[in-house]
Amino acid sequence: LKDEKVTVTFVLNDGKSLETQAKIGDTLLDVVVNNDLNIEGYGACEGTLTCSTCHVILKQEDYDRLPEEPSDEERDMLDLAYGLTDTSRLGCQITLTKDLDGLVIQVPETINDARS
Ligand code: FES
Repeated sequence: LKDEKVTVTFVLNDGKSLETQAKIGDTLLDVVVNNDLNIEGYGACEGTLTCSTCHVILKQEDYDRLPEEPSDEERDMLDLAYGLTDTSRLGCQITLTKDLDGLVIQVPETINDARS
């Protein structure tokens, strides 16, 4: 079961979609890194919740099926993200489960590094 994969599609800001096979247990940040998705500046703090560059926008139905609500730390960091929406999350805080197969992730137009 460990090597099971789910399909995650990233919609980049130029409108291109990239379909990836992602390992269950990986975070969305891991998926971006492992697949060499070329998203400039993404995941600058390597998942330590200090940058907000891993901001992603989910479809409402996907947002609703995430198993975990954002933590207070994630919410604070999200407030600093560029173009925050009601269905925004930080990619480094989303761990893939089998139920999340078919996730579609919108990468925001601009990313803001909260550290700069
Ligand atoms: Fe920096 Fe997620 S990678 S907050």
